[in-house]
Amino acid sequence: MSIDSFEASRKRSDEIRADLPVHPEKYTMLTGDRPTGRLHLGHYFGTIRERVALQDMGIATRIIIADYQVITDRDTTEHIQDNVYNMVVDYLACGIDPEKTIIFTHSAVPALNQLMLPFLSLVTESELLRNPTVKSEMDASGHALTGLLLTYPVHQACDILFCKGNIVPVGKDQLPHIEQTRQVARRFNERYGHVFPEPEGVLNDAVEIPGLDGRKMSKSYGNAISLSLTAEETAKLIKKSKTDADRMITYDKENRPGVSALLTTAALCTGRTEVEIAEEIGEGGSGALKKYVTESVNEFLAPIRERRVQLAGDRGFIEDVLHEGNRRANEIANATLDEVRAAMNMVY
Ligand code: TRP
Repeated sequence: MSIDSFEASRKRSDEIRADLPVHPEKYTMLTGDRPTGRLHLGHYFGTIRERVALQDMGIATRIIIADYQVITDRDTTEHIQDNVYNMVVDYLACGIDPEKTIIFTHSAVPALNQLMLPFLSLVTESELLRNPTVKSEMDASGHALTGLLLTYPVHQACDILFCKGNIVPVGKDQLPHIEQTRQVARRFNERYGHVFPEPEGVLNDAVEIPGLDGRKMSKSYGNAISLSLTAEETAKLIKKSKTDADRMITYDKENRPGVSALLTTAALCTGRTEVEIAEEIGEGGSGALKKYVTESVNEFLAPIRERRVQLAGDRGFIEDVLHEGNRRANEIANATLDEVRAAMNMVY
């Protein structure tokens, strides 16, 4: 994405941010996750916290558990059911309220997926091949480029547009997808008549959440603190994290990635700054730092974990939440597909 269009997206995003609390009724937010594992602190501070805030502002909130996206780059759906149920548990434990927010899965909403056919006719092969996120995901997967991975940004356009979502909270790396969604909406409207909004990305300004080694927090790097860990497991994980031999604790992201990642983790959980915490620990060394981080994380996560354990013990309730979310998503998707059929003269 060029600097100019990034700046334009940033500017629109700032304007929308300011308008959200003033006119919540104007907005429908759609976002989601691939159910490939448990949510961790990176998800929490990166996006979940913001979704809860938008929901509580009174904005229509829809969350897709993107189960079909799991097979964009892997060839098994083993554990998917368990991952989906646990994702619902994680959401609710963090404050997503199923009375306000529709939680649903791709595979349960046929009309959403059917939008893929007209939408695919609106993009060219070279546009698909140009998406930088698709390219890097293909490289990371070690697989050949599948048709689904190549076209998943269009599928994501279906996710957003089936419910006429007009805002999507995103990190910078997802902006090309939003651009592709806007293009699909614009071209559909031009060709067949106005049906879809052109959604805007709402950029999160959260710093990238470091994992325990200073790289981006990700399950695949083994550096993530999952919400579902126990306090003891968390302590063990933090204890094992790599720091350095310098006893004096300072915040220096470049030269001390391990120490600095721990400081940022504690800062996010306590609302203090990294420098403040570093100064307090001073000559206490990694031992004292790790003790402080462990306490901060465990204290912060305690209420979430308590709710998590309760919810995880009530499978019937979790299934009900998903059934109801899927039912409501189908209602919306069927209505939109009816409009699409009408616009395309395909009503028989
Ligand atoms: N691609 C997102 C991820 O990797 C999940 C997702 C699916 C999504 N559909 C979406 C995000 C629509 C925003 C909008 O986690």
